[in-house]
Amino acid sequence: MKRDGDKKSIWQVDIENYAPVNGWEKDKTYDVLIVGGGITGLTAALLLQKEGKKCILAEAHNLGFGTTGGSSAHLNTILDSTYDEIEKKFGKENARHVATDTREAMDLIEGLVNAHHIECDFAYRTAYLLANTEQESNSLEKIKEASEQAGIMVNEAASVPLPLPYTKALRFEFQAQFHPVKYLHGLARAFEENGGIILQNCHVNSVEYNQQFTADTSLGNIYSSTIVYATHIPPGLNILHMRCAPYRSYVAAFRLKSGAYPDALAYDMQDPYHYFRTHKIEGKDYLIVGGFDHKTGHNNNTEYIFTELEAYVRQYYDVDTADYKWSSQYYIPADGLPYIGLMPGEDNIYVATGFNGNGLILGSLAAKLICTLIFGKEHYGQSLYNPSRIKPIAGFSSFVKENADAVSMFISKRLSYDKISELAELAPGEAVVAEWEGYKVALYKDENGGIHALDPVCPHAKCIVTWNNAEKSWDCPCHGARYAPNGDLLTGPARHGLTQIKWEGIDGD
Ligand code: FES
Repeated sequence: MKRDGDKKSIWQVDIENYAPVNGWEKDKTYDVLIVGGGITGLTAALLLQKEGKKCILAEAHNLGFGTTGGSSAHLNTILDSTYDEIEKKFGKENARHVATDTREAMDLIEGLVNAHHIECDFAYRTAYLLANTEQESNSLEKIKEASEQAGIMVNEAASVPLPLPYTKALRFEFQAQFHPVKYLHGLARAFEENGGIILQNCHVNSVEYNQQFTADTSLGNIYSSTIVYATHIPPGLNILHMRCAPYRSYVAAFRLKSGAYPDALAYDMQDPYHYFRTHKIEGKDYLIVGGFDHKTGHNNNTEYIFTELEAYVRQYYDVDTADYKWSSQYYIPADGLPYIGLMPGEDNIYVATGFNGNGLILGSLAAKLICTLIFGKEHYGQSLYNPSRIKPIAGFSSFVKENADAVSMFISKRLSYDKISELAELAPGEAVVAEWEGYKVALYKDENGGIHALDPVCPHAKCIVTWNNAEKSWDCPCHGARYAPNGDLLTGPARHGLTQIKWEGIDGD
C-alpha cells in the first residue's frame, strides 16, 4: 500500500490498499462528510453511522496513508503529556477525566475489534516506564502519584522484563498494541457493510456553506450538513496551526538472534526518548523500537537517525537484521491536551488535532467525543478539549498577511538547464534548497539523474520547506505540510502542492 513517505512501515508492506465496494450518489446530501481515512476518521464514521447518520468519508490518498499507518501502534492510557503535567495545567478533576477518556477509548477499540471480528492482533500488554537519573526518578515519583490519583493502575516495578538500563521503573497494567492498518481496514469494512461510502484519492479542495456544505473535491462536489476534519491537522490556515508543533519520530523493526523478544511495552525518559515492543508478522517476531524524535524540518540528515537508532538498539539486543525502518509525523499541542470539537469560528465543522505521540488512543477518543457533540449531548470534554480554549494570539492576522506578501516571484522567472545543473551538483537521490538571483529553488535529483525543480515556498503560510532524505519528501518546518519530490501534496495543512519551476533547455520546455 502507499504511504506519505519513501519508507513503508511494517504495517504497510505486503498489504494491499483498501478496495471500497460501495458507490456514491453524487447529488445526494449526506449528514456528515468525514475528511481523512486514518483512525480518527474511520472511527468517527462508524460511530456516527451506528447512531443513524448517513456518512461519507473522503481520503485524499488511501486509507492508512498517513500517521495511523506509520505509527508504532502502542495503545496507552498513559500519555506523552503525563498526568502530573495535565493536573498542573488543567487541575486534578480534569486529569481524572482524561484518564477516564483514554480508558474508554481503549475499551472502544477493543469493543469494535470484538463486535466486527477485526483480526488486527489486539492484545493487552504491561508497560514499563524507566528512569535512569535522579531527576528522572523524581519525575517518575510525580508521574506515579498523579497517575494513581487520576485512576490509572500503576505500581513500582520490582523488575523489568527487557535488557534495558534503569534505576527505577513503573509498571502500568492494561496497556495494549495492535496492527493499525488491519484495524483500519476492519473499521472500513464494517462501515461499508452498513452502507457507508468511502472515497479514496478524493482530495477536498475547498468547502463552502450555503444552507448546507458543498465540498469541492477531486471527484466532484460532496454535499453534507456537517463536516469532520480528521486530517491530523485541519487544512487551511487557522489558530490551531499556531498551537500544534509538528514532530517526526523514527521506528525500526529488528529480528533478534536470541529469539528472546520482550512481551511488554517499554519507554525510557531520555531526551529524545525510546520506546519498545514486539509484534508478530506472518509468523515472525519483530522487536519494534522507536524514538529519536525531533521537530519536523530541524534535522538535515534524517537518514542518519536510523543508523543511530540501530546502534542504540545493538547496545542491548543481539540484532540479527533490521528489516523495516520508517518515520512518521505527529503534532504536539501547546498546552498538552488535544484540540477536539468545533473548529474555532465555525458551526458544524469539527476538528481533532494535537494528539502528540498518542494518536491511536486520542484519535479514538476524538471520534467518540465528536460523535457525542454532533448529537448535541452534554460532555465535559466539550470544554476540556475545546479547540477554542486557545486564546487568540496577538498579531495572528498580521502574521498571515506578512507571510502572504512574501509569495515567491519565482514562477515569473525562467531558469536555464545549465544553471539548474550548476545549482544541482547533486548525487542521485540528493536534494538542496539553492539560491538563484535572490530567489530560493528546491532541487532534487532522482535515481535516474532527472532533476526536479520546485518553488520551496510552502503554499500554506509561506515558510521554506526542507529536504527529508529518509522519506524523500519536502517537509515544512512551520506547520508540517509535506510534499513529494515532484511537489505533489502528501499531507496538509496546505491544500495544494509546491509549484514546479520550468526551465529552458534539456528536459525543460
Ligand atoms: Fe504552514 Fe508550511 S505548513 S507554512
